[in-house]
Amino acid sequence: EEIMAITLTIDRQTVEVPEGTNVLDAAAAAGVKIPTLCHFPGITSPGSCRVCLVEIEGARTLQPACVTPATAGMKVHTHTKRVRTGRRMSVELLLANHPWDCNACVRNGTCELQELAKTMGITDVRFPYSREEIPVDTSTPAVVRDMNKCILCRRCVAVCQDIQGVGTLSPRARGFDTVIGAGAGENLCDAVCVQCGQCTAVCP
Ligand code: FES
Repeated sequence: EEIMAITLTIDRQTVEVPEGTNVLDAAAAAGVKIPTLCHFPGITSPGSCRVCLVEIEGARTLQPACVTPATAGMKVHTHTKRVRTGRRMSVELLLANHPWDCNACVRNGTCELQELAKTMGITDVRFPYSREEIPVDTSTPAVVRDMNKCILCRRCVAVCQDIQGVGTLSPRARGFDTVIGAGAGENLCDAVCVQCGQCTAVCP
């Protein structure tokens, strides 16, 4: 079956992409980089973080570029004030659910959330941190899982399921919140896990 090419504009630049391309990749084809967090190349994006928001002419609300299909004639704006404000709000909301102990964190300096906050000039949170503390899972020598820091991007779920074909990790309800659980129990040692470490490799 032949794949049709479609033409759209990204920041007033015309770009031609195969039908089925998402706005994020269409922008990349036009040389425009859109920030992302939950999106990871090669795995299905959950479209949950909303860091990749863009403005599409005719759409009432900002749209997440990573899960929005590009369509013929679409006019996308990636750098308007509205877009920047929306993305900033997305990051602030994630930070409101995240401990602010970067200096004591093993991922200090290799954290995509920290990097995004820095890029956006966010130095303080407007929302109080109110998450209930979850015990850190150190039950295996392979992986330390600190779910207090989880932003529910589900990259780990996708890589475990779709790429490694193991399917150990999955989202589950815990009180009012969702957590990414391992197997049927609380801790990784109780789960079927091949200790490949891919979940930690993709964790932002
Ligand atoms: Fe698009 Fe998270 S990167 S919603």
